[in-house]
Amino acid sequence: MASARLKYLSLGVLVFQTTSLVLTMRYSRTLQAEGPRYLASSAVVVAEVMKIFTCVLLVFKEHNYSWRALNSILRQEIAHKPIETLKLAIPSGIYTLQNNLLYVALSNLDAATYQVTYQLKILTTALFSVSMLGRRLGVYQWLSLLILMAGVVFVQWPSDSTADPEKEALSAGSQFVGVAAVLVACCSSGFAGVYFEKILKESKQSVWVRNIQLGMFGLVFGLFGMMAYDGERVRESGMFQGYNTVTWTVVALQALGGLVIAAVIKYADNILKGFATSLSIILSTLISYFWLQDFEPTGVFFLGAMLVITATFLYGYEGKPSPNPSRA
Ligand code: C5P
Repeated sequence: MASARLKYLSLGVLVFQTTSLVLTMRYSRTLQAEGPRYLASSAVVVAEVMKIFTCVLLVFKEHNYSWRALNSILRQEIAHKPIETLKLAIPSGIYTLQNNLLYVALSNLDAATYQVTYQLKILTTALFSVSMLGRRLGVYQWLSLLILMAGVVFVQWPSDSTADPEKEALSAGSQFVGVAAVLVACCSSGFAGVYFEKILKESKQSVWVRNIQLGMFGLVFGLFGMMAYDGERVRESGMFQGYNTVTWTVVALQALGGLVIAAVIKYADNILKGFATSLSIILSTLISYFWLQDFEPTGVFFLGAMLVITATFLYGYEGKPSPNPSRA
């Protein structure tokens, strides 16, 4: 079935995108480059612009490259439906906050602590899916979510053998700020994702039109955020100060992430998205071992990886026999 193919394709691309983003983002924030470091608030804005532009292109393609059709769809669905459009301001505002919080977290925490703590979003997402979408999860599915969380925590558990000099350099104060930022992001991630899923699945509107609406608000909020946090620096040296190839890669991967996540939420769901990103954590950890050589896999890592894989099968196994109308 075409929709089943799209479901697994979108999940697969998400694994690839998440892995690349985490590695590149961390690298970009710690890179000792000449001149000023790029402004995270500006990266959020540029990613929004890229997403809107790509979504407009996708709507254009959906309507056989007709300018008239594009023009009329944008007018009818966006400009003439202000209430529908305004609904997207909620997830958009929350995502903007979250995107900024995650930059704060990654600048104050080592990548492992960041990822371990952020896994709490697997449970917040399940709780919001149950309460807002009326999704029913069987005992095995809840169990698999708990196993998944435990697995990811083990995978990310810092080992004694890898004394992290970077971690030692972080003060207790900045650790606290980092963890607080991640915890707020866990709640916002669960809520915004499920809210967007509700909007997508309750109407027949194209996912790309929805994404344009989301992105428009994201752009407005992002610009406000940039001027509030970094207004002075932007006025002094412009919003593209400190941009280099790595920065552009992070921004492009962020934008790609928005598109892939929208597709995953439409063709699969937010809970399956959690499984895809968990698998990507194993992948990024292995890459960090083979390429960056800053990680030594331990028994705990392999136990964690086994748990993540077991949980993935357990969740799917339970999913098939119980027909659930809200599953894509
Ligand atoms: O961590 P989490 O999975 O909640 O992150 C979702 C990310 O996807 C956020 O950065 C959000 O801005 C982005 N997103 C997007 N477009 C969507 C849905 C999510 O850009 N339609």
